Amino acid sequence: MTPFYDSTKSYDDNYQNGPFGDFATAPTDTFPKTISTNFLGFPLNIPFGIPAGPLLNSKFVTSAWKWGFSLNTYKTVRGNEYPCHPFPNVIKVDAKGDVKPGDTLIGDNNVNSIDVTRDGITNSFGVPSRSPQIWQEDVRAGLKEMKPGNFMILSFMGTKKEGMTFEQYVEDFARTAKLAKDTGAPVLEVNFSCPNVGKEGLICNDIETSRAILEAVRPVRGNTPLLVKIGYFKKDDSIPEQLLEIIYQHANGVAAINTIQAKVTDKDGKQILPGSPVRLMSGICGAAIRWAGLEMAERIMEVKKRKDWKDFVVIGVGGVTTPKDFKRYMNLGVNAVQSATGAMWNPRLALDIMRAQYA
Ligand SMILES: Cc1cc2nc3c(=O)[nH]c(=O)nc-3n(C[C@H](O)[C@H](O)[C@H](O)COP(=O)(O)O)c2cc1C
Repeated sequence: MTPFYDSTKSYDDNYQNGPFGDFATAPTDTFPKTISTNFLGFPLNIPFGIPAGPLLNSKFVTSAWKWGFSLNTYKTVRGNEYPCHPFPNVIKVDAKGDVKPGDTLIGDNNVNSIDVTRDGITNSFGVPSRSPQIWQEDVRAGLKEMKPGNFMILSFMGTKKEGMTFEQYVEDFARTAKLAKDTGAPVLEVNFSCPNVGKEGLICNDIETSRAILEAVRPVRGNTPLLVKIGYFKKDDSIPEQLLEIIYQHANGVAAINTIQAKVTDKDGKQILPGSPVRLMSGICGAAIRWAGLEMAERIMEVKKRKDWKDFVVIGVGGVTTPKDFKRYMNLGVNAVQSATGAMWNPRLALDIMRAQYA
């Protein structure tokens, strides 16, 4: 099947002319029975959809709804225009099984040879964004197409700039949250898998920064529910429970996981993605990280149950490429499941899941 995001084309080409393949038109077959459920008080046809990333704009989001994906996240936006990393942005990785944080993998530019049920990919975009004026207008246009049973989450983040103070970075998250809320999106998602200021690592690896951002966003978002996108934490890492505590205090739930960072080289051991040396490390996703998504979902659900956080929403993400994978996440008790890589390569994934009737 033709992926709806064409990795052989530039990000801008995809943004202007996508989605491609079957996603460009509506399915001709009748819809199988849906798996009705409820998400943050809203009805959902099926607790399944596409997470932040592959749905670049409202054209992609509305196509996803047409193809049966109910819970779709509009790609992470910023409070200012931001460029994309140089092409290519998606390549196949020779994962040979499960990928662990910091692994070294050999990349392969032949994205057409991907078997998405088995291989991994790396994506390296740098979280590009159109200007707020453009994405706000586009989100509003997309929301007009949202029918009951379908849902849009809008993902956002702040932008780290040279010489910025901690306070300015936190403020940029709050400013962007306000711009996102003003679109009327029913739920917001803040991306915490982005660089910290003044400290190593990602925001979700640091309790103080995470807390400061959530406190700053709280008054700005009003009654609009907020989810927090977090990455994978190693089992011996003590942060997740503390992090979940502050998310519980200041937001409505989590989406986990984001990609897993690994080194991707060519056959000779040289960085395969062109440009800045930071691109030696890039985010692995797809089947190769399914183990990590399932493990995090299980650990988050254990905390949620032990603390009796009934209203705390959990979206399981990572390596879902078949109806069986969806069922494995749902069996852990999560509220919903999302698939980025699996959906990109199989636009029929939501229909396959409905047909398999994994309720
Ligand atoms: C093309 C692509 C772009 C992505 N961009 C974002 C993004 O902008 N924000 C974000 O929070 N996650 C982003 N992600 C990560 C996905 O939301 C997801 O967490 C990750 O890919 C793991 O899911 P998967 O194994 O189903 O691909 C992106 C993933 C892909 C494949």
